[in-house]
Amino acid sequence: MSKEQFRYARLAGCAFMVLFTLSATAAENEPSEETLAVVELLAELTPSAPTPTPEQYVHVAPDMDDLDASSLHPELKKTIRRGYDLFMNTQQLRGKNVFNSMTCASCHTGEGRLPHSGPVWPAAVTLPDYRPKNDHVNSLEERIAGCFTYSMNGKPPAYGSDDMLALAAYHQWLAKGVPMYQPGDTLYGRGYPELDEPELEPDRLRGKTVYKAQCALCHGDDGGGKVERDEVVFPALWGDDSYNWGAGIARVFTLAGFVQHNMPWGKPDTLTNQESWDVAQYINSHERPQDPRYTGDAKETRERYLDPFHKATLYGTEIDGKILGDHDNVGHKDFLKPDVIRDRDFSK
Ligand code: HEC
Ligand code: HEC
Repeated sequence: MSKEQFRYARLAGCAFMVLFTLSATAAENEPSEETLAVVELLAELTPSAPTPTPEQYVHVAPDMDDLDASSLHPELKKTIRRGYDLFMNTQQLRGKNVFNSMTCASCHTGEGRLPHSGPVWPAAVTLPDYRPKNDHVNSLEERIAGCFTYSMNGKPPAYGSDDMLALAAYHQWLAKGVPMYQPGDTLYGRGYPELDEPELEPDRLRGKTVYKAQCALCHGDDGGGKVERDEVVFPALWGDDSYNWGAGIARVFTLAGFVQHNMPWGKPDTLTNQESWDVAQYINSHERPQDPRYTGDAKETRERYLDPFHKATLYGTEIDGKILGDHDNVGHKDFLKPDVIRDRDFSK
């Protein structure tokens, strides 16, 4: 696609999906016109988006208009739409699969499509793969189940169920055209950006000041978020309505990266690097529902999952004379670990 065609596609507002690997050759080392056009587009979508490097694979994920315009079977379109609907409003599964105030899109902002906001399509092209977090090979459904278990403090829909199929179909649709097993570390905008190390050790008291000034208005002084007429307006950052101790975002660096590029809502990239680290330290030094991998002892659980996980969280450490996570509170659900979460071993 030429830059002109690309521009035309955008002006015409018609469905488009631009997909390519950066075509700069080592010799020229200059991005192509096409690349520049996409970078321009990305900059519109996420103002702070860093420029992709020549080694990175840039994918602009299709949206629901593209789905309508596509030639997929109408039944498949309905399935993908259902997945989109579940992703954008996961609270419809509250009490069944979701036991906190989260929706997938609470953390995967930008419909799970946009770079640096936790796009979910990479999972569809990199899985099945080995995951250090649970030390075995995971499928796409299992990865989705992971976010239900930890981030939603819940119970995943059964593998193969209609809801699971719909969610997986939405992830795969977003990945349309990306080569399978394109190396995961080359995918531009995957996850949340890793911030530079802070100048000063992250400090929760400094973080509290940032929180009061920049976050409390929406997420509440007590971190409990805001619910109006049974509708979650702002999700909770700690406490029983929030993610549990095993969630990826309970790691301070993950939360700091998320906050820097997504919060305050509508004003991304307005905090300093230090403020993002401090506020993340503050939020993640509060209590939340138990890690579903709990062994009965928080310090021991921390040790068992230290590498690669709890070394980046405050779980099992002492704050104000109390060990974080030293409790049996599982939040609003009545079980610790959902049954579908299990180990796998192909060596036998
Ligand atoms: C509380 C925040 C939060 C919520 C809510 C959440 N996630 Fe996630 N999700 C994350 C984080 C953080 C990661 C990255 C984890 C990591 O760095 O290992 C992630 C990763 C993923 C990935 C892997 C992406 C990749 O690059 O491979 C998928 C797929 C995913 N989430 C799907 C979902 C779905 C589906 C839901 C809703 C059922 C959901 N998530 C809800 C925080 C969240
Ligand atoms: C104007 C209201 C507003 C402000 C101010 C705000 N947020 Fe948010 N925040 C939201 C909304 C809305 C979402 C859900 C995102 C979505 O649905 O797209 C969210 C989601 C989040 C999430 C992921 C979901 C969760 O509950 O864990 C975190 C973490 C977060 N905000 C942290 C912060 C921090 C830290 C600040 C201050 C630096 C902040 N927010 C300021 C409205 C706000």
